[in-house]
Amino acid sequence: MKIKFNQRLFLIIVISCFYVNYASAQHKEVDIQLTATKLTSIALDAKIDSIIKILTLEEKIAMTHAQSKFSTKGVARLGIPEIWMSDGPHGVREEISWDSWSHAEWTNDSITAFPALTALAATFNPELSANYGSSIGEEARYRKKDVLLGPGINIYRTPMNGRNFEYLGEDPYLAATMVVPYIKGVQKNGVAACVKHFALNNQEHWRDKINVELSDRALYEIYLPAFKAAVKEAKVWSIMGAYNKIRGQYACHNELLLNKILKTDWSFDGVVISDWSGAHTTEESAKYGLDIEMGTGTDGLGTSTANHYDNYYLAKPFLKAIKKGVLSEDLLDDKVRRILRLMYRTNLSFNRPLGKLNNKEHHEVALNVATEGIVLLKNEDDFFPIKDDKTITIAVIGENATRVMAPGGGSSELKPQFEISPLEGIKKRFKNAKIIHTMGYSSGPSVYDEVIPTKLDQDSLYVKAIKIAKKADVVLFIGGLNKNHLQDCEGDDREIFQLPYQQEKLINGMHEVNKNIGFLLLTGNAVEMSWLPKTKGVLQTWYLGSMAGEAIAQIISGDKNPSGKLPFSFPKKLKDNAAHFYGETSYPGVNMTQHYKEDILVGYRWFDTKKIAPQYAFGYGLSYTNFKLSDIKTDKNVYSLTDKITVHCTVTNNGNRQGAEVIQVYIGKLNSDVKRALKELKGFKKVFLKSYKKETAKIEINVSDLAFYNEKISDWAVEKGTYSIYVGNASDSISEIIKVTIK
Ligand code: BGC
Repeated sequence: MKIKFNQRLFLIIVISCFYVNYASAQHKEVDIQLTATKLTSIALDAKIDSIIKILTLEEKIAMTHAQSKFSTKGVARLGIPEIWMSDGPHGVREEISWDSWSHAEWTNDSITAFPALTALAATFNPELSANYGSSIGEEARYRKKDVLLGPGINIYRTPMNGRNFEYLGEDPYLAATMVVPYIKGVQKNGVAACVKHFALNNQEHWRDKINVELSDRALYEIYLPAFKAAVKEAKVWSIMGAYNKIRGQYACHNELLLNKILKTDWSFDGVVISDWSGAHTTEESAKYGLDIEMGTGTDGLGTSTANHYDNYYLAKPFLKAIKKGVLSEDLLDDKVRRILRLMYRTNLSFNRPLGKLNNKEHHEVALNVATEGIVLLKNEDDFFPIKDDKTITIAVIGENATRVMAPGGGSSELKPQFEISPLEGIKKRFKNAKIIHTMGYSSGPSVYDEVIPTKLDQDSLYVKAIKIAKKADVVLFIGGLNKNHLQDCEGDDREIFQLPYQQEKLINGMHEVNKNIGFLLLTGNAVEMSWLPKTKGVLQTWYLGSMAGEAIAQIISGDKNPSGKLPFSFPKKLKDNAAHFYGETSYPGVNMTQHYKEDILVGYRWFDTKKIAPQYAFGYGLSYTNFKLSDIKTDKNVYSLTDKITVHCTVTNNGNRQGAEVIQVYIGKLNSDVKRALKELKGFKKVFLKSYKKETAKIEINVSDLAFYNEKISDWAVEKGTYSIYVGNASDSISEIIKVTIK
């Protein structure tokens, strides 16, 4: 075929245009990535501004909303990458399909399941939190994730909240102290942590509509401190908005929470990501602090339509509003600036480590958190530890002895490479004793679990369990809750405070034939314990992930000495809990609004102040050895506002086993001008001691941290006068009270 001269000329022009474009795109890609190596933050901001200038409106819009269930678009022509996210917070979630919630069925995405965050909180050990964070960060990096959607740090307000197991307990100081090292650990891998759910997502029931009304004091003193620590101390790179409303406005685009508190007062320079379908209007998403909109339904609204992601509030509707001049392009540029900053910290960072998955070290971290998190609640007649003796028959009874837990619970579901069940762990450790096992009760069919022998009905399971309990020297009942809907699971709350599935009836029945019963309580929440007198020993064992069975076996055999402390109070009855005391207006709300009537008196603050005895108090946990706290003193009696209070306390291990005790320092203000809790946790230290050894620990507290949020001046203020310093090993076990004066 002959090509005419002018046709040839045309072709040459087209090809060279293409080449120039291609070459400049290549050049820009190199430019963006390489210059990141040496940039100071000022230079980085300038660099980011220069990138924003060359982005088209459409390209910028595309960066601010989902392109799939867990990713956002990049700009290929400039080498700007996509952002890939994954749930958190207990392990990296298995791959989800591009555009549906079904699992992608990959064969290379199984991970280490770390213990639930309640277990981490119960360790009272920030060092373990750092190891947890860096290990999960390494796994996220290996799985090529840029953002890990966790940790969750909502305050434990009611034991009914289906999602408490994903959080760090009821105390803001404990949650803040534990979350900081976790975030730093994750982020040193070049993976952004995304703390969630900001804020006041304290129940799952009606979570996507409920409006929370509360005082400024409760907001600033109870519900925000852990988030503030995440931003100010850990420098977290992203944060997830909550589903609920706060004072009438949705949390994912909330003027007070996001624009004022987070981005102005705390100078947060990272990215606000919506909870999945947590955005509700274009205007508010644009104006009130949201940077990336993610979604549950393919149109972001919980339903699915064609061209779904284009329908997101921050997609076409946002583009249209800017083009019409209804919304300013500056709003968009601020979001893109934050997104690019996140990229330079993660997927455009020049020195990201490569990550690791399922290695021995990660399993070790999971095991250490699990063993240190288990809390010994009761130990009559030294029921635990149990000897591995040829003469002993141990009946292991209860569905949770064999049930896999990691795959349930909602978005924190995991596909671990393995999960050692309690029964497996016990069988492996107890080689001499005779182990007999039966299920005892059944929670019914589970979407996650295929191990339930459904041939047996509840009655025959009961009869068999009683028979087996009768034959045994020791009964280990392994029950509690599970990760099914309406248990410890996202999406709704528990419906009853009691143990489900007729477990109490079973305990009573077993007690009639065998008085030697120990209970391993696998839950992420407090439960009613009227069955307590029927047991000799109780271990709160949470959800412990991959190494669950091994950790449990180490504790019940005495290879490890329990040292966990409760990160939340166990009420005797539900009404004893502050949120429930005030009835429906307080929980779950009336007409989709709830008032946090207990105000600042959350958890032990309520029990202490109202003089209600809990079943088990915040900070409580026994050991196989005996510790004594003595020589408790402060460095001075009178302090000024800029001082630090130093508390000295000697811990002695008076037993023949090594172990660890947590010294807890609470402070309360006498004769305050404002409402106060009797005392609040302000410091703690876990001390590890060989048998018959002692150590003097030092705990420092800034006087400025004794401030309350003064609603009259909308700022923190320290009251002068006399304070009581309570030092003990639980919120209801105080060894010494010292009075000091702040001048
Ligand atoms: C949860 C988030 C989670 C997201 C993505 C939401 O339903 O509330 O915690 O990160 O889904 O799975």
